[in-house]
Amino acid sequence: MQHSARYVVIFAAAVCVVCSVFVSAAAVSLRERQEANKLLDRQKKVLTVAGMMRDGESLPAAEVARIFETSVRTHVVRLAGGRMLPDVDPELYDPRQAAADPDRSHPAPSNRAGILRVADQQLVYHVVEDGDVSAVILPIEGKGLWSTLYGYLALAPDTRTVRGITFYEHGETPGLGGEVDNPGWKAKWPGRLAFDEDWTPRIGVKKGVAGPPESDPYRVDGLSGATITSRGVTQLLEFWLGEAGFGPYLTEFRSGGGRG
Ligand SMILES: Cc1cc2nc3c(=O)[nH]c(=O)nc-3n(C[C@H](O)[C@H](O)[C@H](O)COP(=O)(O)O)c2cc1C
Repeated sequence: MQHSARYVVIFAAAVCVVCSVFVSAAAVSLRERQEANKLLDRQKKVLTVAGMMRDGESLPAAEVARIFETSVRTHVVRLAGGRMLPDVDPELYDPRQAAADPDRSHPAPSNRAGILRVADQQLVYHVVEDGDVSAVILPIEGKGLWSTLYGYLALAPDTRTVRGITFYEHGETPGLGGEVDNPGWKAKWPGRLAFDEDWTPRIGVKKGVAGPPESDPYRVDGLSGATITSRGVTQLLEFWLGEAGFGPYLTEFRSGGGRG
């Protein structure tokens, strides 16, 4: 049976309308669940970098939320000056959205991490044990070879000793730059030193193999075949630990402020 051109066009348009209604309805109805999953993933990463969950450990969502709520305090800090902003609700603050808003962000000073704009305010996480902060967790981001890497760096309360690092989002090549996710590589970070005695950021990834933390405190093994991603990690740490990043906040923390 042959259909007229008019029939074919109307039929195709009807199929498009039905499909687009279906896709839009799915997107709207799943948005809340996607947001909840995103939050859960961040919470897991924060707990993992703090050493409170094992890499790849699977816990029920309610258990992750319970551990996070009991042990982690989220704060908003102003990068310039490093003060905490107790009046800003961290649950409602999205630094990535703020970084895209000219009224709530500023151009990054010249840097090697490929960072162009920075939100004026950032989130920091405190792990609290027996009323004391036992780790400070800083969000970090910067360019690798193909993508922007987003992750967290955990520091001991001395703010010099590294507790861990993790990347929760990137588009580097699996097996090359994507090895930033490898638990074996991440295990090389704890015990290294982020800053030297003068509080200059020194931690970074070298090309080749680093010594143990006692003899080679500022260097971590390079990712083989992925020098560009490795360099990106060094450069993003240089930025976020420096004066344009969390440097002022960490100074404030050491002086007894910024503890929440
Ligand atoms: C398909 C493809 C994917 C690559 N992915 C990465 C990557 O994710 N990160 C990276 O640093 N280098 C990657 N490289 C390698 C870089 O081009 C470059 O050769 C490498 O970073 C140099 O590191 P090396 O000095 O350790 O060999 C990739 C190369 C190819 C051909």
